[in-house]
Amino acid sequence: MPNPHIPVITIDGPTASGKGTVAQKVAQHLGFHYLDSGALYRLTALSVMRRDIPLDDEHALAKAAEHLHCHFNGAHIFLANEDVSNDIRAEAVGNLASKIAAIPTVRQALFGLQLSFRQHPGLVADGRDMGTVIFPHAGLKVFLTASVEARAQRRYKQLIDKGFSANMEDLSKDLTERDARDSNRSSAPLKAAEGAYLLDTSAMTVDQAVAQVLGWYAASKPA
Ligand code: DC
Repeated sequence: MPNPHIPVITIDGPTASGKGTVAQKVAQHLGFHYLDSGALYRLTALSVMRRDIPLDDEHALAKAAEHLHCHFNGAHIFLANEDVSNDIRAEAVGNLASKIAAIPTVRQALFGLQLSFRQHPGLVADGRDMGTVIFPHAGLKVFLTASVEARAQRRYKQLIDKGFSANMEDLSKDLTERDARDSNRSSAPLKAAEGAYLLDTSAMTVDQAVAQVLGWYAASKPA
């Protein structure tokens, strides 16, 4: 049973806002565990794609999420025993992840798995609903944003670095559509949690953003 007294920092925000990189660095700095909750939705999407499960078969989609055989090893993410770290970053997988993430039974199926990441000495969790739904009592909550242009540029670089082809115009359109879908769904929509600190990183370096989160964390702890 995950201990509710283990510290948690939540970092939520839209796609390609840089929250993953910032969250990982904050976790590294504090020696905390790291939960990339988006990866769980992406893994579910990849599994659904490979098994050709239709998008209207909610029951089968929730089952795929519930029986996700995945594990994390550093930066490597495995589905069954296959390293799919790169495959889950494809735009098609991200778009499908955003679609199935709107289904409440899929979200419910991934709930316990996300809680289980709360291990000693602490956790940094990034996603859309970490501060609102999964860890609402987290000691520090951050909502990290960046302009669509800055995010499209970051995603472009990420994809090219991973050997995927990419086009800025398509990416901006994809990001805008994905933001709308993630923000307007009725189940756990993307929004800042109550009490979250807002961090716009459009004009910030990763190190500046990390320093800001660490500063807030230090200030949030009792003296
Ligand atoms: O952060 P990401 O782009 O890897 O996430 C992929 C999709 O998963 C995203 O478009 C919405 C969904 N997601 C979610 O609904 N809730 C989360 N906590 C994390 C991701």
